[in-house]
Amino acid sequence: MSTNDHHQPLSPLQWLSFLLFLLPGLPLTSRADLGTAARYPPPYLPTACYRNDPTPFPTSNLFAAAGDGIWDNGAACGRQYLVRCISAATPGTCKPDQTIQIRILDYGLVTTSPPSVSGTTIVMSETAFGSIANSTASSINIEFQQV
Ligand SMILES: *[C@@H]1O[C@H](CO)[C@@H](O)[C@H](O)[C@H]1NC(C)=O
Repeated sequence: MSTNDHHQPLSPLQWLSFLLFLLPGLPLTSRADLGTAARYPPPYLPTACYRNDPTPFPTSNLFAAAGDGIWDNGAACGRQYLVRCISAATPGTCKPDQTIQIRILDYGLVTTSPPSVSGTTIVMSETAFGSIANSTASSINIEFQQV
């Protein structure tokens, strides 16, 4: 048991960290993990999370399917992640300083349309992938962090 379970007011430094974290385009904090991302095209329905229900799809079209590493036996459904492209096989593939927030709606191993490559940490919608990388790339290396 931790002795620090009680709530304490945030210090000015913690507030500053919090505000900086909200600014878009900054590198993610040290809580971020490294992984890989592919992309997948429409049709996106049905999904492993919500079957034929289209209502969980964000109007931004920033959504993704979870690979085995983060699927968590289905608990990943609805989770949101900040994702940033950090590198790819072809230099210049990543769009600099672009961090997006995506919502998990599907399981990467059973998507209706197959991903550009299999076995990645995450499989992003074409819109999501193209927001942080050259949309013709088949996979990228990412930094990601659950929101
Ligand atoms: C995207 O990648 C393709 C293939 O490498 C390249 O021909 C194209 O110029 C790139 N587009 C941009 C905007 O960098």
